[in-house]
Amino acid sequence: MGRVSGKVAVVTGGASGIGKEACFLLAREGAKVVVVDMDEGGASIAAEISRTGDAIFIKLDVTDESSVEKAFAEVKKKFGRLDILVNNAGITGVRKPTHEITEEEWDHVMDVNVKGVFYCTKHAIPQMKTSGGGSIINVASVIGLVAYAAAPPYVASKAAVRLMSKADALVYAKDGIRVNALVPGYVWTPLIENALKAKGDVDAGKKALEALHPVGHLGEPLDIAYGILYLASDESKFVTGSDLVIDGGYTAQ
Ligand SMILES: NC(=O)c1ccc[n+]([C@@H]2O[C@H](COP(=O)([O-])OP(=O)(O)OC[C@H]3O[C@@H](n4cnc5c(N)ncnc54)[C@H](O)[C@@H]3O)[C@@H](O)[C@H]2O)c1
Repeated sequence: MGRVSGKVAVVTGGASGIGKEACFLLAREGAKVVVVDMDEGGASIAAEISRTGDAIFIKLDVTDESSVEKAFAEVKKKFGRLDILVNNAGITGVRKPTHEITEEEWDHVMDVNVKGVFYCTKHAIPQMKTSGGGSIINVASVIGLVAYAAAPPYVASKAAVRLMSKADALVYAKDGIRVNALVPGYVWTPLIENALKAKGDVDAGKKALEALHPVGHLGEPLDIAYGILYLASDESKFVTGSDLVIDGGYTAQ
């Protein structure tokens, strides 16, 4: 018996990094998994899971509400219930000081990181209500608990996600739906690697990031996926409106 056996989980941004690892771990622990991503790579993740478990891939952009609505209708048709939503799709966006950021650049980060969470939550809730409850895990960031000068819209978006999680925890507690924020420190994924590549020296950049964490290294996607699994499972049935910080001590200083 797995820790989330029989549950149906939707994971956005499931084609890469933290989301991909969460898809594999939730599937290993018995969940049926819906891999959601705008990247076709999600299809191979769903195919791999399907060899031993149950998974489908839905290609969509979380900023497009009509696609999100259709996707949740597809989940209902295929699995008949929804228990877990992991709002993980996210981008870093522009790295500029505030006075140089255009409206479009600001809006793009907010659209993916904040509105995407809103749309997916909005269309998941009715199904969770008919399933008798559920767990929503919103992937925020330590950059949102504390600030980071290089990317002001990212800071604002992740702080918003943390407080949206608390607001929705209050709104839906009576429906048996728990909503929590998962707050990672830096995790070695394509998101970080590509950001360092854009800056130039990946090895030096990685070392500099590692030095920010008292444990002396970055997180691995599985470190975060285990937090997602805990919040998704009934082991966390008394946990709602919380920030689960998994950051190698980044914010302890
Ligand atoms: N890696 C880190 O250090 C770190 C730290 C804190 C928080 N986070 C957060 O964790 C989440 C996952 O990050 P990651 O490092 O695994 O990144 P990643 O780039 O490896 O994966 C993100 C995935 O989201 C998908 N995606 C992006 N925009 C989308 C959209 N509009 N619609 C659908 N899918 C979209 C991408 O295609 C990609 O597959 C993000 O929300 C990120 O902000 C990451």
